[in-house]
Amino acid sequence: MSAGHPRIGVVGAGWWATQAHLPALKSYVGADVTALADPDLHKLDAAARQFNVPHRYEDPHELFMSGNVDGVVIAVPHAHHYPLAKAALDAGLHVMVEKPMVLQSTQAWELVETAEAAGLQLMVGYTYQFTRAAAHAFDVIRSGRIGELLHVSGLFASMVESFYRGQPDDYAAVFQFPVTGPSASTYADPTIAGGGQGQTQVTHAMGMVLWVTGRRVTEVSAYMANRDLAVDLVDAITYRLDNGAVGTMGSTGSLRPGQPSQQEFRYYGSDGFLLQDLLAGTIETHFNDGSSEQFEPLAPDEIFPAEATSRGFADLIAGRAENLAPAVTAAHVVEFLEAAYLSAASGGAPIEIADRSVARAAKP
Ligand SMILES: NC(=O)c1ccc[n+]([C@@H]2O[C@H](COP(=O)([O-])OP(=O)(O)OC[C@H]3O[C@@H](n4cnc5c(N)ncnc54)[C@H](O)[C@@H]3O)[C@@H](O)[C@H]2O)c1
Repeated sequence: MSAGHPRIGVVGAGWWATQAHLPALKSYVGADVTALADPDLHKLDAAARQFNVPHRYEDPHELFMSGNVDGVVIAVPHAHHYPLAKAALDAGLHVMVEKPMVLQSTQAWELVETAEAAGLQLMVGYTYQFTRAAAHAFDVIRSGRIGELLHVSGLFASMVESFYRGQPDDYAAVFQFPVTGPSASTYADPTIAGGGQGQTQVTHAMGMVLWVTGRRVTEVSAYMANRDLAVDLVDAITYRLDNGAVGTMGSTGSLRPGQPSQQEFRYYGSDGFLLQDLLAGTIETHFNDGSSEQFEPLAPDEIFPAEATSRGFADLIAGRAENLAPAVTAAHVVEFLEAAYLSAASGGAPIEIADRSVARAAKP
């Protein structure tokens, strides 16, 4: 790595790599994009040409072993996250893997432990965590200013149903797909996606909740509805946190292009409460002594900083920034979703989540 310029390889030349990561990294002075891998030669060539990436690989494992990169951004369909992230860490590379980190909790903790043992960075592509608003919520809640956390209420409604129908082109006008849209199967085939709204959207929402609270979920009960889809479209999840607080997360992917989305979280503590609206970019905090604070709202271009994750990863490798989407929090989200899907499949039965930190601490 030349000073301050980590060499980044991108794995996956599909929609999100070409919409977010490649443009973000190519236009960033703090990183060099040296390599790109994708088994789809057409997509590989199109993206490598568009973004002028020098080294191309059909097999991502050849990229990992090439000596051309210090870290990799993995932006491929969900079922491929775990094997590729594991192989990259085993090759001694820093890893940013897209959300959901992986589909099984055993895989999540294995990646966490592999990275820790090797002294490598492991980050997850939780875009909303890279905003000033998330940092503010984190500071207020983690510093205890609203007291002991009692309750979290979350709603995450978004426009994704056509992805779950395998009809991503319905959104071509909205996203403009600079090189390509996603493959039809990426979000629609449960063997590849691992689920619908949970794996694609609730992962963002619970990533935020667990990040700003610093807590983990100990018990989950969920109802989900697929309607006519092969994956879940609507999720209603209740949960208990490790301090005894209880929470809810409601989520639907059924909104249509042009409709306003709602993505809001409310955190209630013994000394006050904080209201976080991701899409308005606002946060207000009300304290039990009668005072309140308004956060200066995000500007429109700060609300969903698609460029921030891969740039933040380069900064992390270069030692310029902290990990704002650390793998341990993401692993707690994987545990949560695994339990939620299990609960929903059994008609809402409560599912307990074991505390992995005990097993992790006991390891030599
Ligand atoms: N953070 C965010 O806000 C955000 C937004 C959109 C997508 N994503 C995530 O980005 C990831 C990619 O999604 P997408 O919509 O770009 O998918 P996509 O369907 O465009 O697929 C990405 C690419 O991965 C390639 N691929 C498949 N298997 C591979 C393998 N084993 N090795 C290398 N490449 C392989 C495919 O050929 C395809 O070109 C997903 O995890 C998705 O959830 C994140």
